[in-house]
Amino acid sequence: MKQNKVINIEGLTKTYNEFIAVNEISFDVNEGEVFALLGPNGAGKTTTVEIIECLKTPDNGKVEIFGINLEDKKKQNEIKRKIGVMPQNFNAFDWLTVKENLDYFRKLYDSKISIDELIDRVGLTKKTDSMYKTLSGGMKQRVGIAISLINEPELLFLDEPTAGLDPQARRETWNLIKKLKQQGKTIFLTTHYMEEAQELSDRILIIIEGKIVASGSPSKLIENYGGNKSIILKNCDRKILDKNNIQYESDRESQVQITYDNNDQLFKILASVTDDPNVEIEIKKPNLDEAFLNLTGRRINDEGLAK
Ligand SMILES: Nc1ncnc2c1ncn2[C@@H]1O[C@H](COP(=O)(O)OP(=O)(O)O)[C@@H](O)[C@H]1O
Ligand SMILES: [Mg+2]
Repeated sequence: MKQNKVINIEGLTKTYNEFIAVNEISFDVNEGEVFALLGPNGAGKTTTVEIIECLKTPDNGKVEIFGINLEDKKKQNEIKRKIGVMPQNFNAFDWLTVKENLDYFRKLYDSKISIDELIDRVGLTKKTDSMYKTLSGGMKQRVGIAISLINEPELLFLDEPTAGLDPQARRETWNLIKKLKQQGKTIFLTTHYMEEAQELSDRILIIIEGKIVASGSPSKLIENYGGNKSIILKNCDRKILDKNNIQYESDRESQVQITYDNNDQLFKILASVTDDPNVEIEIKKPNLDEAFLNLTGRRINDEGLAK
């Protein structure tokens, strides 16, 4: 099946004075997918999305959205009508209620959407008449997502939609994003959270210092860069492993780590320790964290800093 490209970018570059924030990046986004730009603070994620949203002008490169070239300034309004945007650090009017905020944006866009239905879609019915400033962080983000939906866009940009949220609010936002995907929206996400990219995305583009480091589906990235599968045995009798010719590494007195490629090898390891009453077994699956570390030599902390 041929996939429809909603975004096509080739050799995109953006500088601020002398500083190269986005450095010759190329990628496509397909209709109906959740596509994530994953990288630490300062990677160039927001710059990239703001160019696609027609807010910033690139220095170089080709940017096409819905087949329209960004250089065609006269057609930019056509693009803007079909996209929804939730900016990074989104904020609405503190002293207006949820409904009043959405009414404001509906009029601004001259949209015919039902505000009550929209509020229901983002799960805020109980907060319809609550002042924006009294909402929790997760609820504020949902107002942001509702505003981005006000013109019933085909393509949605969510720039760090769960930054700073607690785990439960983050999960609720993820569920909302999954629901929007099911309803046929194409979603362009930026995030510095590995788990978020892994949970939501069909495809991920890893970006650091304005350059693409790798791209692919979460499972492909993990398969290609996530390292070996391994099993950790705690308190096991190493003599049994030696007797069975099982190679292991150990950086702690109480445990050994054994890498394996396939189930046959795993079963052999497990069979060798079945009679050991003290052994504790932990199977380590490669994940996106490991893939990111192997690709970049860095980990990203909760604040988005690469270490
Ligand atoms: N308007 C601007 N003027 C100068 N530098 C900027 C501007 N906007 C962003 N930058 C710099 O460009 C780099 C990329 O920023 P940004 O696109 O916001 O990255 P991200 O969203 O991945 O954190 C950062 O080093 C940032 O400081
Ligand atoms: Mg950003």
